[in-house]
Parts: sequence; structure tokens; C-alpha cells
Amino acid sequence: MTNMTALITGANKGIGFATARQLGALGMTVLVGAREAERGRAAERALRDGGADAVFVPLDITDAESVQTTATFVQTEYGRLDVLVNNAGIVLADGTRGLPSETTVATMRRLYETNVFGVVAVTNALLPLLHRAPAGRIVNVSSEVGSIAVMTDPAGALFELTSVPYPSSKAALNMLTAMYAKELRDTGIKVNAANPGYCATDLNGNNGFRTAEQGAEVSVHLATLPADGPSGLLWGFQMDAGGGYGVLPW
Ligand SMILES: NC(=O)c1ccc[n+]([C@@H]2O[C@H](COP(=O)([O-])OP(=O)(O)OC[C@H]3O[C@@H](n4cnc5c(N)ncnc54)[C@H](OP(=O)(O)O)[C@@H]3O)[C@@H](O)[C@H]2O)c1
Repeated sequence: MTNMTALITGANKGIGFATARQLGALGMTVLVGAREAERGRAAERALRDGGADAVFVPLDITDAESVQTTATFVQTEYGRLDVLVNNAGIVLADGTRGLPSETTVATMRRLYETNVFGVVAVTNALLPLLHRAPAGRIVNVSSEVGSIAVMTDPAGALFELTSVPYPSSKAALNMLTAMYAKELRDTGIKVNAANPGYCATDLNGNNGFRTAEQGAEVSVHLATLPADGPSGLLWGFQMDAGGGYGVLPW
């Protein structure tokens, strides 16, 4: 997979960093999107020390100018983009339990700025360059908590979870994934949502029972799908099916 270029947002740590490491090990040039320069440069150094062709790209996905600068940089330096992993995401601890009745509009707005609007901004800015690749791949890092079917299954492990801000942002991301896949169905570009499973990262106080490397395997699988692979799926870790990987319901 040499001569291929992948942009991973939020790649300075966690699942994004592990995704950059794994795609780099496959021979791709990995563009390490990070919103803070020192963290981005440190990640670039660590990836290069591990043998990857890694390049730090300053990218705050909530900043329109930063997104446009990134698209211009990729166009100038590489002329196309093979893989876009929309990985950057946040959870907000705002002092509530996130119950629908307690949820504030301010929290929803802040979460959606990153988890939803940022993905639209980055995807639309990079889409012309993905069209120039022979087999563009878009991976939206989502979650099983964004699956309405999983969250409302009385027999499922997540039925007791009633939080709204983060799950609804991932549900919106799932719909984005399905609609981008539909729009692009007659092109070579595949668009899928990844469910990494509950991974120990800063996002959850390192409480997950999977590793960031395991979570990244899901994104890498979807980033390297063959020409006859699927598009428009939520795919990844299946907690309710006892582990293993497969398609999750929307
Ligand atoms: N961990 C899990 O169990 C789990 C499960 C399902 C889905 N996910 C999803 O997996 C993705 C990666 O999360 P993670 O667990 O690896 O969390 P993490 O370790 O907290 O990493 C999140 C990354 O996103 C970056 N980021 C946040 N806002 C950004 C912005 N506006 N612009 C650019 N980068 C930004 C962070 O940068 P800074 O270092 O600058 O903050 C960091 O690099 C997220 O989309 C998350 O929702 C995680």
C-alpha cells in the first residue's frame, strides 16, 4: 500500500494514534491530524521512530480555516487522498448524568461541533481529493451507543444507558455515514462507520476493556476494504454478540 496517503483526525493519541501506526505499518503515508502542535509533533516523532512515513498536519476540525488549510496542503503535497479517517471525537463531562431531561443545549452544541459538524466540514473539504484516488475510503469512527437499535434493545448490554449528548451525536454520525455512502454509491469511494468497542483511552478515563490498538483494527479494516467490499455500514466490535467483529444495526 505504498504511494497511498491517509489522513487521520485526532491522531495524536488514543485510537487515532493507533490507527496511524497501523496504516503506517501497511506502507501508507499517514497524515497525523492534531489540533495542538506539540502533541502533533510528538505523535509524528513517535510514529516515524516506529518506521512509519508520518507527517503532522495541524487540524482542528471545528475551525473552518484549519480544515481548508489542511485540504490545500494535501492537494499541494499529494494531489489526492486515499483514506480519510474521521476519528476525532469528544465526550463532555458537564456535571449532569446526560439524561434527556437534564441535557443542556450548550452541551449538545459543543459535542455536535466536533462529533458531527466537524466531520461534515472535513469530509466535504477532502472529498474532491478522495475522488482523485483510485479507491477512496472514508471511515467515520462512531460507536454502538449511536445505534438506536442497540440502545433500545431491552435484552442488550446498553439498555440501562440513557445519556443523550454523546450517543445522539454518534447516531447523527451514523446517518451521515449512510447518506454519504448513498450519494457516493456509483463512485469507487466507500463510506463506513466504525465501532471500535469500549477501549481504554483518555475519552473514558482509560476504563475500556479493549485496547486502543484493538479499536484501531476496526478503522484499519474499513480503510483497506477491497473494491467489492461494503459501503454504508456500521461495522466493528459486537458486544451483544459476545465479541468478534461484524455488522451492527443502525
Ligand atoms: N474509547 C472508546 O471506548 C471509544 C468507543 C467508541 C468510539 N470511540 C470514538 O473513537 C474516537 C477516538 O477516541 P479515543 O477513545 O481515542 O479518545 P481520545 O484518546 O480522547 O482521542 C480523541 C482525539 O480527538 C482529538 N480531538 C478532539 N477534538 C478535536 C478537534 N476539534 N480537532 C481535532 N482533534 C480533536 C483529541 O485531540 P486532543 O489530544 O488535542 O484533545 C484526540 O487526539 C472518537 O471519535 C470516539 O468517540 C471511542
